[in-house]
This record gives sequence, C-alpha cells and structure tokens, in this order.
Amino acid sequence: MSSSLDQLKATGTVVVCDSGDFATIGKYKPQDATTNPSLILAAAKKPEYAKLIDVAVEYGKQHGKTIDEQVDATLDRLLVEFGKEILKIIPGKVSTEVDARLSFDIQGSVDKALHIIQLYESIGISRDRVLIKIASTWEGIQAAHILQSKHNVNTNLTLMFSIVQAIAAAEAGAFLISPFVGRILDWYKAAHKRDYTPQEDPGVKSVQSIYNYYKKHGYKTIVMGASFRNTGEITELAGCDYLTISPALLEQLYNSTEPVPKKLDPAGAASLDIPKRSYLNNESLFRFDLNEDAMAVEKLREGISKFAADADTLKALLKEKIQA
Ligand SMILES: *[C@@H]1O[C@H](CO)[C@@H](O)[C@H](O)[C@H]1NC(C)=O
Ligand SMILES: *[C@@H]1O[C@H](CO)[C@@H](O)[C@H](O)[C@H]1NC(C)=O
Ligand SMILES: *[C@@H]1O[C@H](CO)[C@@H](O)[C@H](O)[C@H]1NC(C)=O
Repeated sequence: MSSSLDQLKATGTVVVCDSGDFATIGKYKPQDATTNPSLILAAAKKPEYAKLIDVAVEYGKQHGKTIDEQVDATLDRLLVEFGKEILKIIPGKVSTEVDARLSFDIQGSVDKALHIIQLYESIGISRDRVLIKIASTWEGIQAAHILQSKHNVNTNLTLMFSIVQAIAAAEAGAFLISPFVGRILDWYKAAHKRDYTPQEDPGVKSVQSIYNYYKKHGYKTIVMGASFRNTGEITELAGCDYLTISPALLEQLYNSTEPVPKKLDPAGAASLDIPKRSYLNNESLFRFDLNEDAMAVEKLREGISKFAADADTLKALLKEKIQA
C-alpha cells in the first residue's frame, strides 16, 4: 500500500512544503516553496544561515543613506538570498513576500514587488521562478492586477479567508491564491466553543467553495490550500490544485497508509449550480461583502498585523547587525 502522501499526489494535487528550512525542503522535495519574514526569523537563529545574513547586511550598508533605508535594503536582499538558496533545491517557484505594511498601498506594493524582482534578476534568477506574495486586501488585489497585466510578474494572493477575496483575485488574474484552512477553523472553534470533524470543517468548506467556483467559471488561477491543523483537513481537499503542508503533517501523511480518495475535481464543480458574481471596478461592493464575514475581516486584520510585527522583529535584528 502506498503512503497517504503518495496517494494524495496521485489525485493530481501538487504538494508544497511550508518551511523556510532548507534541510526540510531537501527531504520532502516539494515542487515550490515560500519565504517570508516569519520563516526567516525562525531560520536566522541557526548558524548555517549566517552567511546569507552577512551578504544581505553588506549589501544593505551600501544601499541607503539613513539607517532605516539600509535596514529596508538589507531585508529585501535577505528575502532574495533565501529565495535563491531555496530555488537551488526545488524545481518550481519560490514565493517572496511584499512588506505587510504596504497591504493598503497599491503603488507601494507594486514598487516593492518590482524592486524584489529586479534584485532576483540582478543575481541571475528570472521572474518566472518567483511569485510575489501579497495580502488579499482590495489594494493588494489591485496591485496584483497591475503586476500580472503590465509587468508579467506572477502573484500569490495570501491571507485569503473568503470567496469574496477569491473572486476578486481571479478577476485580477492572480497566478495563485493561498486560501487558509486552519486559521478559519481556529476562529470558528473559538467563536462557537465546539469541535468540527474534517467533513464539517468551515476552513475545508471555504476552500471547496473557492475551488468549485473557479472550475465552474473557468478561472485559471491556481488554488493552493494552506495552513492546516490536521491531516483530515488535507485529505478532505484531495484533488485541489496545490496544497502547502507543514513538515510535521507531511511526515504524518508519509507514515500513514490510510486511503486518500479524490474529493475535488473539475467535472464535479461543473455540475454544480453556482451563480457568478463580480467585483471588477467595484470596491464598495467588495468591501461590503467582505465586511459581512466577521471571520474573514478579523483573520485578515490579524494576519497583516502579525506579518508586519514579524518583519519589524527581523528588521530590529538586522539593524543590530548593520550597526555592529
Ligand atoms: C503562497 O503563499 C502561502 C502563504 O504564505 C504559502 O504558504 C505558499 O507556499 C505560497 N505558494 C507558493 C507556490 O509558493
Ligand atoms: C514516522 O515514522 C518514523 C519511522 O518509523 C518515526 O520515527 C516517526 O516518529 C513517525 N512520525 C510520525 C509523525 O508519526
Ligand atoms: C457595484 O455593484 C452593485 C451591486 O451589483 C451595483 O449596484 C453598483 O452599481 C456597482 N457599482 C459599480 C461602480 O459598478
């Protein structure tokens, strides 16, 4: 009997590893991988990454007049250094995050993304191996549209908790979205003080509805389920385009031989009756519909705030290194 992990891959799902740790990425050989300040912060404390930090600090010192400019330049370069190392061990694309502080700034997000792309290209990595990761706010989605349509830059729209965000992302032509499963479950468990089986899990249902909407209406944007709390959430989504899974849950699937039947497929979606909705050029409708979903509003807010805080912690560490 093949492992649950192999069976999951056999349903057509591309498995991605949610880790910034090169050893882990090397072990599970995912197609793609991601980097962000939170993952780098965890990795930066290990001695084997010191060289990457040194390169970034040297670069930063020469690319800014004020210390704050130098810290920003160092952070951007560090993200790209990690991305470069990850690309050596995976065949696909690496996601690199735009500073969460820019989540409500269309032009700022576009400029930052283009700067990151330019840094990658300056060290010989072409833009088709990079995904720019942006929060799924109205402004983030507009920035993604500009990057995709004018600059040929592929985007990963993240912090996605609702079909409203997913519809707008597809209309913007995003390359990939990463709807979160576990964080949705967390919210419902806390709000309703009860447990959910994988079949009734509101995070699983959210991704199912997004997947079915995209396939029904012919959108090409890749659906990548992310943030899982248990393997049941993962196997309920077998057949989804991509799933990004933590090393601990990958190991559980790898060790298990439980059957993993396909749960999602385009033909099933096509047979469903799902009305079309549009947010094109309709910011007020987008904001109203999103606002109707307390979970999505709160989780989006919290996610942006946490990513920004992690970036600040990393920046403080880099500032010390620049001044040392
Ligand atoms: C997209 O972003 C999510 C959320 O941060 C991440 O988990 C995922 O690995 C990224 N996708 C790819 C293909 O890099
Ligand atoms: C998976 O199996 C290995 C080898 O049998 C074992 O060492 C490890 O603890 C197992 N991991 C999990 C998560 O069950
Ligand atoms: C936005 O959508 C609403 C509901 O369909 C519609 O009444 C309104 O006219 C739209 N606004 C714009 C600017 O398209």
